[in-house]
Amino acid sequence: MTSIINVNLPQQSYEIAIAPASLEQLGQYMTELKLGKKVLVVSNPTIFKHYGEKAIASLKSAGFEVGSCSLPAGERYKNLNSIQKLYDIALENRLERSSTMAALGGGVIGDMTGFAAATWLRGINVVQVPTTLLAMVDSSIGGKTGVNHPHGKNLIGAFHQPRGVLIDPEVLKTLPMREFRAGMAEVIKYGVIWDAELFSQMEASKNLNQLRYIKPELISAILTRSCQAKADVVSKDEKEAGLRAILNYGHTIGHAVESLTGYRLVNHGEAVAIGMVAAGQIAVDLGLWQQEDAERQNALIQKAGLPTKLPEGIDIEGIIAALQLDKKVKAGKVRFILPTQIGVVQITDDVPSDTIRQVLQAM
Ligand SMILES: NC(=O)c1ccc[n+]([C@@H]2O[C@H](COP(=O)([O-])OP(=O)(O)OC[C@H]3O[C@@H](n4cnc5c(N)ncnc54)[C@H](O)[C@@H]3O)[C@@H](O)[C@H]2O)c1
Ligand SMILES: [Zn+2]
Repeated sequence: MTSIINVNLPQQSYEIAIAPASLEQLGQYMTELKLGKKVLVVSNPTIFKHYGEKAIASLKSAGFEVGSCSLPAGERYKNLNSIQKLYDIALENRLERSSTMAALGGGVIGDMTGFAAATWLRGINVVQVPTTLLAMVDSSIGGKTGVNHPHGKNLIGAFHQPRGVLIDPEVLKTLPMREFRAGMAEVIKYGVIWDAELFSQMEASKNLNQLRYIKPELISAILTRSCQAKADVVSKDEKEAGLRAILNYGHTIGHAVESLTGYRLVNHGEAVAIGMVAAGQIAVDLGLWQQEDAERQNALIQKAGLPTKLPEGIDIEGIIAALQLDKKVKAGKVRFILPTQIGVVQITDDVPSDTIRQVLQAM
């Protein structure tokens, strides 16, 4: 069964298709998008080993001229050197304005491929074929692309919407457990900021921490409802003028925790989980949210195998200082996304530092 979610945008709308075993249909899917004959499949060695052949064979049998580019795996390689390599291969393959780059991978591959496609010949097509849970529900949708600068994450980038997103849930079977859980943090985020029904469905599930223990119907609801949440928000605010900021729920403190732990000890999803616990408690302390709902959120985070406490020995003043450096600071004030009900959040610019400090000390 295929679920289709529309991302409606003024310049270019597109569809997210979610269907088991759809990787084998990639060629047919891209034919329907009416793209040029040349496709460059971009991935990394791990993902190519699992899925490269399937993707390339499907494209070839649909009549595409297919090239491939394997970039080194990992956030460390999400930089301009990798983009240079991608451009070199784009040139070798003589990609034209009508050609397409297909990103087969997680958020790292998706962001780099999107950026290369945004800039090669001033912009060619990109199709996202996400292979991590995080990429499926988050990074492949919405058109944010980019790479890291030695002094900061995602400092170099462009908005470039994909022509389509094809999600094959089957590929999650090979995803390492910790990566799956990291994606679940973003899914729980959608439950809290946007979709109370998704939140309840996850609450009703006995297990949430490993793919193989989660019922296929729930996986399918997790994917469709999360993609719908992201599509709704992005459709209403493509360039982050306002509403899109709510997607940063849990990310304000989360980013600070990630950077203070050197992006190693705690991964992005784990940091977001900790950030959601902190933001939830800040909302409770400010009288915006009920303690009981914050506890429901924290129970869900725990059930997904994600942390609810700060890493041992982390420097709380360091977190508070890092918040000041965050990209999202407006006129010296740290912006927080705070829940008021399950499924509803508000953007708040005036959270006192003392409240933040108290909450962090208690964690
Ligand atoms: N553009 C956006 O809007 C947006 C949003 C959120 C995050 N991001 C970016 O996404 C990146 C994180 O993405 P991620 O969490 O997907 O990590 P990732 O892309 O690094 O992938 C995680 C690991 O899983 C492996 N892998 C991927 N799919 C697999 C599969 N099906 N089977 C086995 N192994 C597989 C990868 O090789 C990698 O080692 C960050 O760079 C972040 O900045 C972007
Ligand atoms: Zn995130």
